[in-house]
Amino acid sequence: IYGDRRRNSKGVNLNVHSHYQPLMDAMAGFMDKTYDAAPLLAFEVPRDPANTHEINSPYDRNRRVGSIQWTSREQASRAVDAAWAAFPRWDATPVAERAAIIRRLGDLMEENLAELMTLCSREGGKLLTDGVDEIREAVDFCHYYAMRAAELFEAPTVLPGPTGESNELMLSGKGVFAAISPWNFPVAIFCGQVVAAAVAGNTVLAKPAEQTSIVAHRVIELLYQAGMPRDVVQLLPGDGPTVGSVLSADTRITGVVFTGGTDTAQIINRALAARENAPLPTLIAETGGMNALIVDSTALPEQVVADVIQSAFQSAGQRCSALRVLYLQDDVADRVIEILKGAMDELHVGDPRDLGTDVGPVIDEDARKGLMAHIDRLKGEGRLLAETRLDPAFTALGTFVPPVAFRIDGIDALEREQFGPVLHIVRYKANEIDQVIDSINRRGYGLTFGVHSRNESFAAAIAEKIRVGNVYINRNIIGAVVGVQPFGGQGLSGTGPKAGGPHYLLRFATEKTVTVNT
Ligand code: SER
Repeated sequence: IYGDRRRNSKGVNLNVHSHYQPLMDAMAGFMDKTYDAAPLLAFEVPRDPANTHEINSPYDRNRRVGSIQWTSREQASRAVDAAWAAFPRWDATPVAERAAIIRRLGDLMEENLAELMTLCSREGGKLLTDGVDEIREAVDFCHYYAMRAAELFEAPTVLPGPTGESNELMLSGKGVFAAISPWNFPVAIFCGQVVAAAVAGNTVLAKPAEQTSIVAHRVIELLYQAGMPRDVVQLLPGDGPTVGSVLSADTRITGVVFTGGTDTAQIINRALAARENAPLPTLIAETGGMNALIVDSTALPEQVVADVIQSAFQSAGQRCSALRVLYLQDDVADRVIEILKGAMDELHVGDPRDLGTDVGPVIDEDARKGLMAHIDRLKGEGRLLAETRLDPAFTALGTFVPPVAFRIDGIDALEREQFGPVLHIVRYKANEIDQVIDSINRRGYGLTFGVHSRNESFAAAIAEKIRVGNVYINRNIIGAVVGVQPFGGQGLSGTGPKAGGPHYLLRFATEKTVTVNT
């Protein structure tokens, strides 16, 4: 029932030469390969140069990764026909068979680690360490959801009842799911959504982020190689206004699993709600955050700074879990800021393929412009506390943003999530802690949150009051591990349930109670 593996994927230790070198050699073979990818649908898709888009690397906009053909509206609609027709057959396929395909995908991704990591770096600007974590998480999703599906779907739950009656509760798929995923975890989140929906018995229409469509295409090719029927999971590259809107307006879509901005989740929610004569849909949304970390006077400044650097600047701050607002108690604030400045001076912003790089590019020019406008505004207000230097000889080629730290008065000063390496610091006095917690709760986001304190009861009291999905005490606030830290937020940060958690698949399933008068 548990499948053949219950432990998390080992990944690769890049500090060990005998791991690192073979991986680098294998990745070299994919560095200059160019890809020409197209929708992967249940039917043949003719080439359409007019609807084909170039993808270049964020660290060097002159380097081409390849091209991706987008899905037309008509093709998206035909893909829904195929998914709708395939659903009863797939839902009736024994869960052991469905889970076996998903586990094989996990194994194939490990076998193709070098190519997938290279694509994560070339398309998504990911550091090598982030690439290793990315594929490991995707593999973990496959094995974890396969295991949970076997546990949940294999046999009905027998319930008590009066003599002469039997009661059973059984789970099955809901129907057709649209899976709409972001560029910041182009393999892990993309794959997590698809495999969760499919293993639970649903057919899936996956729309990857435009920026990282090629790696998504490669994952779906591997999924077909693992034995997934082409009408059960289809890949619909394209943009939200075209593919996303066709899917969310179609009355045959039973559910949408979405990760991305809160605004987009609202658009999807409205589109689903506007459908007439459609089943009431399921929306699983994991959206933005305005994640805070509170540091009291008992915390160890060096440890605080190490965790802040990781939480705010790893992945160039492009994680929904990333730290945005650091609250420092007055007594330790100067000391923490001084050490933080020193640590930020040491950060190396550059080529994501170099092991010595700490911070890579942001995803594209739109992202860079938006972040720089925010940075320039706060600089103009005289709020800059620290900034990492960029080396223009390299960074001019790509979309780089320097890690920065600003002083602000409170979380309410932030109008919107800044999805990049921008840290905001607020000083507070010990007697203001309740107001601090209140203001974070009132702001309405609720994804990750941290406390650094050696006062256990202080940390525990805050953890209890704060309304978020993931609380981390005395550590960084990113990098939730599948099956260990189920991940997902509340309020403006999402609908739950938690990815990588024991209840996730239930949201993709429908329950039926069968009562027999014996
Ligand atoms: N699961 C990721 C993390 O925990 C999401 O950003 O960092």
